[in-house]
Amino acid sequence: MKRVLSGIQPSGKMTLGNYIGAMKNFVELQDDHRCYFMVVDMHAVTVPQEPEDLREQTEMLVGLYLALGLNPDRASIFLQSHVPAHAELGWLMTTLAYMGELERMTQFKDKSRGKESIGAGLFVYPALMAADILLYNADLVPVGDDQKQHLELTRDLAHRFNQRYGETFRVPEVFTPEIGARIMSLDDASKKMSKSNPNPGSYIALLDPPDTIRKKVSRAVTDSGREVRFDTANKPEVSNLMSIYAQCSGLSLQEIEAKYEGQGYGTFKKELAEQIVSLLEPIQERYHEVRSSGAIHDVLKKGAGEAAEIANETLREVKQKMGFVLG
Ligand code: AMP
Ligand code: TRP
Repeated sequence: MKRVLSGIQPSGKMTLGNYIGAMKNFVELQDDHRCYFMVVDMHAVTVPQEPEDLREQTEMLVGLYLALGLNPDRASIFLQSHVPAHAELGWLMTTLAYMGELERMTQFKDKSRGKESIGAGLFVYPALMAADILLYNADLVPVGDDQKQHLELTRDLAHRFNQRYGETFRVPEVFTPEIGARIMSLDDASKKMSKSNPNPGSYIALLDPPDTIRKKVSRAVTDSGREVRFDTANKPEVSNLMSIYAQCSGLSLQEIEAKYEGQGYGTFKKELAEQIVSLLEPIQERYHEVRSSGAIHDVLKKGAGEAAEIANETLREVKQKMGFVLG
């Protein structure tokens, strides 16, 4: 069975962009792949976090994983910080990466822009991400478009290690959804939908109540036309809403165009909101059940045990090949 690994940072609310770009694929891949899904808490601390918020957001994200349908009997669900091999291989990957390639990472440039002091962890972040993936010899890494550059770097580091020390790591492939690998803001289709946007009207959070969702969709920016047509160059806002519609309903873009032909944006947006609500309402119900059941800690314990078994084996091989005296 092919191996799949991915992770999400526990830094704030999860949005529909996270779901469509990444989490939806997690759920779909777990049936016929050996899956490892993490909450990357060690990545989250590359920018300052309030300790209490970090703890809550970590548990919230695990709760969402379970509510979305990730099954701990099929996939290993764990926290990055529970498997120390991540930090250890992360360091070794840092020694393999070049300053120049880390400087080119657009996520680093975005997160450090305008900041007076930039944490060193933010800079070496992609080396830790490479370690996350390579520890499990993952074949596929389901992420949204914005992570493609990090994946390229992971592939380069895997090749570099293999060349220097002999064949060790599998070189992973990125796995992005065909539609919606980059969901855009509802208020500005030139920016990606992001929880860090100060305008909450720009994103739909997975835990937004139904009426909030309806309000946000009805206020979403559109062009002044009335034709529901997928055309990212000329109709980026409507195209973005259509991608969301397609991913929530299972309809193709063509089917959506045909369904709303001659109807204008009003009906389309109203029905889009209902599609999102009927996707998210049951997830929200399960989320509250999961959080109150206290099941999270057992799931994490099991997941960390399964993950550590594979991760420790890889780390041992890496250290042996690099010339460390094994204990
Ligand atoms: P983040 O919340 O930035 O840590 O992202 C977690 C996962 O969601 C990554 O795989 C991202 O690529 C994906 N993601 C985040 N925002 C979006 C978006 N607007 N559209 C598609 N995928 C996204
Ligand atoms: N960098 C990813 C993000 O910001 C999170 C991440 C960390 C990740 N390690 C990973 C994603 C390993 C996939 C695989 O979203």
